[in-house]
Amino acid sequence: MAERTSESAAAAVDEARLWDRHMEMAKIGATPKGGVNRQALTPEDARARALLANWAQELGFTCAMDDIGSMYIRRPGTDADAAPVMTGSHTDSQPSGGRFDGIYGILGGLEALQAIEESGNATRRPIEVVNWTNEEASRFGSGCMGSQVYTDPAKLDGMLAMKDLEGVTIAEALAETRAAMPALAHRALKSPVAYFIEAHIEQGPELEATGNVIGVVTGIAGSRRFEIQVHGEDAHAGTTPRKRRKDAVRSAADMARALFELMDDPEDTVRFTIGRFMVTPNALAVVPGHVLFTIDFRHSEEEVLTRLGDQIEAVCQRNAGPCTVTMTETRRAPTKSFAGPVPDAILAATQRLGLAHMHIFSGAGHDARYMADLCPTGMIFVPCEKGISHNEAENAKASDLAAGARVIADTLIALANR
Ligand code: GLV
Ligand code: MN
Ligand code: MN
Repeated sequence: MAERTSESAAAAVDEARLWDRHMEMAKIGATPKGGVNRQALTPEDARARALLANWAQELGFTCAMDDIGSMYIRRPGTDADAAPVMTGSHTDSQPSGGRFDGIYGILGGLEALQAIEESGNATRRPIEVVNWTNEEASRFGSGCMGSQVYTDPAKLDGMLAMKDLEGVTIAEALAETRAAMPALAHRALKSPVAYFIEAHIEQGPELEATGNVIGVVTGIAGSRRFEIQVHGEDAHAGTTPRKRRKDAVRSAADMARALFELMDDPEDTVRFTIGRFMVTPNALAVVPGHVLFTIDFRHSEEEVLTRLGDQIEAVCQRNAGPCTVTMTETRRAPTKSFAGPVPDAILAATQRLGLAHMHIFSGAGHDARYMADLCPTGMIFVPCEKGISHNEAENAKASDLAAGARVIADTLIALANR
């Protein structure tokens, strides 16, 4: 019985409708090179959220928002007391982001929900499609903010006080976002969730290279993030002799070179990135007195994260020259493994649908990492062209996105009837 109903939902997934919604969303914050800039809680993010809420409400689903701005689209179940099965991802993007990172998990979930509705499948549990606030951390420092706060509400006040580079707090940006949207009902943080499924483009090359359509995700790499401040002294570029300079760029460059050497591994398993490098006063004729740079360091093994990550501060101190240096670790997230009912249901759905698939580990971070602390969790990957992501050229095939939505629909039905 369950198999026949889930088949009818998968059959109701509409590839063209799903693609068109992606293209409609991609108009919001569209960049000249074909990507999107829709950073968290900007006016663009608010427009994307309003469009999403509209679509959901037109389909007859309710939509609520929690204290950090995450949105919950809900289709009721037959058992009013049952905890929901939840799926979803994020509307926010990197400044030079693509059209699929994040939004696919939401639109794929919405397509699955619509297909379940149109195929007349009642489920025991409610099904929800979530939009987590600020997954990307490009505007506000700590990523996966929505799922972090949902699973650990004690983090709320600290998150609301976080500022972007212009000094705007999350609380202020959230108030603007709320004002730009239709009013939504309130959703309590940490209310029970039975299962969480996140669908995402792979953001790496493996599925495409192996000819697979679905990746059943086995886990997410751990990560550590650091902020390094190098303090020197502003000085005249034409008159100050080298011995008198406290050149923050020179010291920061020495630190960066030594850090890249520290992180060079022959197996190429370490992921080490200095993604932000900010010079003050950033003026052509001034020896710079200050540099702030960020480190994003990831690995699948905790031992490596600890061994190498714990050397970062000492390497910076050794290379500070005449400057001083301060380091803050802004986030540490452990490696997370997925196992149990959700990956099992994803695998079973993939097999029922006859889709080529493989097990795959995620180097990218996702909200599923935090949801796994609250409930059984798993992820579905679909191919992304040449593995290009966090890039305006990011691309995916409509047929793969639809295949993923069929797996979401089938998995949701299986888990929502447990
Ligand atoms: C999320 O976008 C990440 O950087 O892994
Ligand atoms: Mn993402
Ligand atoms: Mn991303």
